[in-house]
Amino acid sequence: MALALPEAPAASIALDVEGVSHRYALDGKELQVLDDVSLRIVPGEFVALLGPSGCGKSTLLRLAAGLETPTAGRVLEDGRSVTAPNPDRILVFQDETLFPWRTVRANIATGLEARGLIREREYRIDEVLKLVKLEGFADFYPHQLSGGMAQRAALARALVNDPKLLLLDEPFGKLDSLTRLRMQNELLELWKSAGFTALLVTHDVEEALLLADRVIVLSDRPAAIVAEVRVDRPHPRRRDDANLIALRRTLLETLGISHDV
Ligand SMILES: Nc1ncnc2c1ncn2[C@@H]1O[C@H](COP(=O)(O)OP(=O)(O)OP(=O)(O)O)[C@@H](O)[C@H]1O
Ligand SMILES: [Mg+2]
Repeated sequence: MALALPEAPAASIALDVEGVSHRYALDGKELQVLDDVSLRIVPGEFVALLGPSGCGKSTLLRLAAGLETPTAGRVLEDGRSVTAPNPDRILVFQDETLFPWRTVRANIATGLEARGLIREREYRIDEVLKLVKLEGFADFYPHQLSGGMAQRAALARALVNDPKLLLLDEPFGKLDSLTRLRMQNELLELWKSAGFTALLVTHDVEEALLLADRVIVLSDRPAAIVAEVRVDRPHPRRRDDANLIALRRTLLETLGISHDV
């Protein structure tokens, strides 16, 4: 008779954004950033968010991470209200920087140290270093890394916490196009093996279509959802896939770019 094993903890979570509006108070004036945004992301899904600069994409990620509370509406993880940050939900910031005075290994260790888990889970540092292909660079300082390596290290610093929801804010924005392509593939591999739910902000329509199960387009500020496309194509995807080219055209039109660029 098979032994009943304890159920493994779920590797991913469902994220629900329900009627979320958000306003910032700025110089005594109110700035409305999000307007009644509702979004349901199922466990393990990969969703990409596109939208004009300043519309509220980073704000939406901060709300999902629990770093801010929405002015109206609710954010739920697996049906429970998100009220504070939690290592299950990790946000890799748009301008994520490594601590310059710490080595790559020490940078990656930060989250585990803060949670008092460093002794127990130190082995995970070597595992994630391997995942992001930086195993030979553990003792390097950030200034000794290339831009792509620094971004991989920042990703490793998030992954060491085994997030169930990974929120990525334009993680490859500053990379050259070749490194970017490599990093996109690496992210896909990580997502497939680790099984987390992913919400990626990007300004790159092609990147969204190559990676995501679903692409959501936000309007100008205050951001509302204006379009949503499902990308039902298996991985690895080819950028010359006719389906993706058609979806790209649709998305560009929604973003107000009608000619083929
Ligand atoms: N803490 C804050 N206090 C006041 N206003 C803020 C704050 N954070 C963001 N904003 C404002 O909210 C709006 C949306 O900002 P947000 O960073 O979410 O945009 P974004 O879509 O991520 O833009 P980008 O594509 O340029 O990164 C902007 O007008 C910004 O000035
Ligand atoms: Mg942003």
